[in-house]
Amino acid sequence: MMVQATLNVNGLISDEKEAVVSVLDHGFLFGEGVYETLRTYNHQPFLLDRHLKRLNQSAEMIGLSVPLTNKEVAFRISETMDVSQISEERYIRLLLTRGVGDLSYDPSVCRKPSFIIIVKPHEETPQELLAKGISIILSSVKRNHPEAINPRIKSNNLLNNALAMQEAIKKNADEALMRNYRGEISECAQSNFFLVSKNEVLTASLDSGLLQGVTRDFVLEIASEIGVTARETTLLDEDLSAADEMFITSTTREILPVTIINNKQVGSGRPGPLTLELRKEFYKRVSVLTSKAVDA
Ligand code: PDD
Repeated sequence: MMVQATLNVNGLISDEKEAVVSVLDHGFLFGEGVYETLRTYNHQPFLLDRHLKRLNQSAEMIGLSVPLTNKEVAFRISETMDVSQISEERYIRLLLTRGVGDLSYDPSVCRKPSFIIIVKPHEETPQELLAKGISIILSSVKRNHPEAINPRIKSNNLLNNALAMQEAIKKNADEALMRNYRGEISECAQSNFFLVSKNEVLTASLDSGLLQGVTRDFVLEIASEIGVTARETTLLDEDLSAADEMFITSTTREILPVTIINNKQVGSGRPGPLTLELRKEFYKRVSVLTSKAVDA
């Protein structure tokens, strides 16, 4: 499938037909790599500094370091965006792998990491899905144990997430909510999870083993700014049945209402008032943050 992608492989920009990474790259051989997904608003990468901070943290957690400064990464992104001649907002994926080396787990066999940027059109969430909300399942696949591949690492090793999504897709659902090894709710295969109960916005705490989503943090900050109570806590199955509203958050899906879980309606079956208020406030901030950068 042609996706109109522009690729930057270690500084070399090309289209998807030409971009190549060696099969001896440890990202391919062993899933040894980390990544970030960003999107643009007003043609500027949104919350770039936060994503780069997390990229550096993820890299450190697998014993790698980003071979470029944040300024250099920003420059490479903008060079790649300049070559990609598209009018839509962009989806940007940054990938950092251990690099090319012999078939060995010894990191010293790889002389330099690979740094790849994928830029393609961002697919906006269809308006009707936003209005109706999505359907999710509670997956039988557990989120990684923090003492195995820690979910705080935004790792390229995504098999566990892919298996959870396969289960969701089979059941015609849009996302897979996962429990951790203790049976507590952690997060979804591709997004963080929130619920609203008795006018409080709740999300699983980092201790439940999950990715510290950039959007999750942003939403918690918005809630506190507008005086909505939002807390990180331990969420259990029974909290799901008692919830009035649910939503997921991610860079690409922003704040997306969940109206069905395991074929059952959530609350009124329609996107809830607090979800909609947070979404409105989210777009307000997006607009302020991206218009300032343009004027500067
Ligand atoms: N996914 N949890 C998981 C497991 C994720 O993969 C993601 C993001 C999130 C949300 O994080 P953020 O708000 O920083 O995007 C939470 C991205 C979009 C992806 O995999 O492409």
